[in-house]
Amino acid sequence: MRMDDTLPIVVRIERVIKETPSIRTFMFSQELSFCPGQFVMVWVPGVDEIPMALTSSHSISVQKVGEATEALFAFGTGDEIGLRGPFGNAFPQEGEILAICGGIGAAPLLPLARSDHISTFLLGARTEEELPFVDLLDECTNLLLATDDGSIGLEGRVTALMDEPHLKDLGKFDAICSCGPEAMMKTVWDRLRSSGCIEKGYFSLQRYMKCGIGVCGSCCIDPLGLRTCTEGPVFRGEQLGDGEFGRYAREGNGSKKPL
Ligand SMILES: Cc1cc2nc3c(=O)[nH]c(=O)nc-3n(C[C@H](O)[C@H](O)[C@H](O)COP(=O)(O)OP(=O)(O)OC[C@H]3O[C@@H](n4cnc5c(N)ncnc54)[C@H](O)[C@@H]3O)c2cc1C
Ligand code: FES
Repeated sequence: MRMDDTLPIVVRIERVIKETPSIRTFMFSQELSFCPGQFVMVWVPGVDEIPMALTSSHSISVQKVGEATEALFAFGTGDEIGLRGPFGNAFPQEGEILAICGGIGAAPLLPLARSDHISTFLLGARTEEELPFVDLLDECTNLLLATDDGSIGLEGRVTALMDEPHLKDLGKFDAICSCGPEAMMKTVWDRLRSSGCIEKGYFSLQRYMKCGIGVCGSCCIDPLGLRTCTEGPVFRGEQLGDGEFGRYAREGNGSKKPL
């Protein structure tokens, strides 16, 4: 990390794209040099600073879930936001990659898909209209969909797509990359372990962050105390053994919250 990476830059929003009723992509004026999987701390003036994956060198895709993301949804073309980063590590970029994502969890994997590094992409959401990036992913990958209500694709959880006959041999992939709700990723983790290929798993964790640069400790995960912002956000399967992964997360004050 260079010293000036920790200072925010101000960028202008050039375009806003509505991806789903609750997800928007914000394209900004400056290109950042980054690796797929890295994130930026986004300063929403007057509200908060929140972590967001880069979906390209000059965009983030945001799901409205609370105060800061709701405030960001009020921003439009010409408005300015602050960015620090990019921070954190990245997904692997070699070999045959399987991606397994829930909803906005597809965001950090978009740059990998765009550069033709993902062969098969499993994407799930509650309904068809909540599935983000479908056209783009369909162009670049072999895309399989699942929805809770069966409005498109398999009816059920995205993890059920791992039972498709041609995916049963997970060991044939060089890497299996996952991002989304942690309970979903834990199901992927359990499957990889029972299939004897946990070392092929890469999981991008979306934990509560404050500083984004390894100082405050708010993003640490038990039992190893790994910092999601610096040792992550992408963790190898074997790093996430029997700790808090898939069991509980932390609020801003450090208290545990069940997943
Ligand atoms: C590395 C990383 C990459 C992420 N990438 C994306 C992305 O590409 N798109 C996207 O929509 N979201 C992403 N998130 C999640 C996003 O940061 C949170 O949804 C956002 O911070 C919520 O802020 P809020 O004020 O709107 O919601 P709040 O009202 O504060 O909280 C709503 C929920 O978000 C969680 N949350 C709140 N603040 C943070 C925080 N600083 N860090 C992590 N979680 C928090 C809370 O625990 C709560 O469950 C990412 C998180 C991390 C750690
Ligand atoms: S967010 Fe401060 S140490 Fe990770």
